[in-house]
Amino acid sequence: MNKKTIRTGIVGAGFSASFHYEALRKVHGTNVEVVGVHAKDEPQGKAYAEKRGIRFFENLDALLDAVDAIHVCVPPMAHEPVSVAGLRRDKFVICEKPLTGYFGDGSKDFHWDRVDKQVALEAALASVQRMLAAERQSKGRLLYAENWVYAPAVQKEREILEKTGGQVLWIHGEEAHSGSHSVDYAYAARCGGGVLIGKGCHPLTAALYLKRVEGRTRNGNPIRPKSVSARTHAITRLPGFRDEGHIRRDYYDIDDFSAMHVEFDDGTIADVFASDIVLGGVHNWLEVCANNHRTICNINPNTAMQTYNPLEKNFADVYVVEKIGTKQGWACTSPEEDWFTGYPQEIEAFYRTIAYGEPAESDSLLAADAIATIYSAYVSTQRQGAAVLVPVG
Ligand SMILES: NC(=O)c1ccc[n+]([C@@H]2O[C@H](COP(=O)([O-])OP(=O)(O)OC[C@H]3O[C@@H](n4cnc5c(N)ncnc54)[C@H](O)[C@@H]3O)[C@@H](O)[C@H]2O)c1
Repeated sequence: MNKKTIRTGIVGAGFSASFHYEALRKVHGTNVEVVGVHAKDEPQGKAYAEKRGIRFFENLDALLDAVDAIHVCVPPMAHEPVSVAGLRRDKFVICEKPLTGYFGDGSKDFHWDRVDKQVALEAALASVQRMLAAERQSKGRLLYAENWVYAPAVQKEREILEKTGGQVLWIHGEEAHSGSHSVDYAYAARCGGGVLIGKGCHPLTAALYLKRVEGRTRNGNPIRPKSVSARTHAITRLPGFRDEGHIRRDYYDIDDFSAMHVEFDDGTIADVFASDIVLGGVHNWLEVCANNHRTICNINPNTAMQTYNPLEKNFADVYVVEKIGTKQGWACTSPEEDWFTGYPQEIEAFYRTIAYGEPAESDSLLAADAIATIYSAYVSTQRQGAAVLVPVG
């Protein structure tokens, strides 16, 4: 087969832009030419470009002129404007999670604790609609970079569901660690909320995806979320929180613990936890309880490899696993962390969509369902956990 060449550009030059680039280097079904990067933080963007031998573009339009596809690796509040700019120019857009959200009214004293979450829901849905409309009018497509969908354990579960016709009765899962590195993450006005959206979106979207797979296998119709009940807490902002230095605690206005209970339109359920208060490295897992099997997806940590290191300094130059607090003693050292996380698989799949029109497993409609569920969950938190119907995203 003659491989197509796709010219691509990265928007953003921080943490996610780095793992997107590493994944791009591994794409094999398509020739990818990474043309350049554009980032608001110019020194960071220039350093990113220089390190990789690509061009730095001072503005987004100039980058769009030079490429077929862009990777949106900017903070959530910039996902909509950057993605829509790309779609209007008929580019393929690979957008990081969460797709979009509500980023406040622009007022200086904006504080997430005081926001009417119904207003947030309506604004987030309006943003989703603008993005979906831009996609409909574009020759490009909006691809949603939810790596949990492409994590090998979740894709193996997709295969099991498709081949056994299983009915998923209950999914539970979690994404947690001891606090995001990002400065923006502390502010709901930049990220659209707290941990419920920032981390909860991952296991939630994997659960929505697997119910979608179940429905499309059975009769072609996805099973969709019907209602959600949720609670959030801000544990590290409690006056009584005793800081021992292991957990990030400088959040301005976000929730750092969340629990969502989702009921699907077939009456089955999912429970999703997300938090920033868990020590011992990243805790990302999903358990599927079906009528004919049970699956535990240990995305991170997992026991593909375990190391025992008697002295911290032995492993000074060794990367062990994400956000582990110490390298001494036993550790679930990850031999290929990006692979278990699904980053290279998602990028490979998206370039097959871009180059050859293959269907995308993580598309804009799945992303829209995730946003509709997440902001309905925030409405529920305002009602102390009462069930809230999830509108169509
Ligand atoms: N899938 C995952 O596992 C994962 C992990 C981390 C972050 N993310 C997502 O990636 C996105 C970026 O997070 P990050 O951790 O890379 O952030 P970061 O702070 O490390 O980097 C953000 C970059 O975006 C640039 N930027 C900001 N606003 C911009 C704009 N309007 N136009 C152009 N550039 C702009 C900044 O200059 C910076 O280079 C977020 O949406 C986040 O949720 C996903």
